[in-house]
Amino acid sequence: MSAARTTRRAVCPGSFDPVTNGHLDVIERAGVLFDEVVVAVLHNPAKRGRFPVEQRLEFLRRSLSADAPVRVEAFANRLLVDVCRDVGAVAVVKGLRGGTDFHYEVPMALMNRHLSGVETVFLPGAPQWEHVSSSLVSEVAAFGGDVSGMVPAAVLEAWRQG
Ligand code: PNS
Repeated sequence: MSAARTTRRAVCPGSFDPVTNGHLDVIERAGVLFDEVVVAVLHNPAKRGRFPVEQRLEFLRRSLSADAPVRVEAFANRLLVDVCRDVGAVAVVKGLRGGTDFHYEVPMALMNRHLSGVETVFLPGAPQWEHVSSSLVSEVAAFGGDVSGMVPAAVLEAWRQG
């Protein structure tokens, strides 16, 4: 058997609008399983998100450990399978928080495999982030609720500055 080994790269895709501590947990765990992780911020420039894409990238970059084997990139109007091909990823990694995520994620995973053969690896979401999603924390924060401990400091700062 040859000792030569290519880099095994995974893509962690999402809107990350904004990144939560649950996302960060999945990205960091993906970095243990793969040689390199590309965090792909997928977006549609015609649709206004909660945060501009540049700010979502900044939140991610500020929140991820500098020595993690992770890079963060934005992709506009692209199929995930095309992103995976372009960056040379062998797998997609996603977190699964429970039944609702399962029903949303499995058809996408099967579609992506149908389109290109790329496999999706699901990591069970850590129980402390089970209820944490970008949309829920954004709603709570918008009404002045305390979301510290659910999102990284960079996101909290942005909300505190209004
Ligand atoms: O954070 P989200 O919004 O749950 O992420 C969903 C995302 C961006 C990963 C998904 O919508 C996606 O892969 N979009 C890219 C377009 C695409 O490939 N669509 C077909 C999916 S089978």
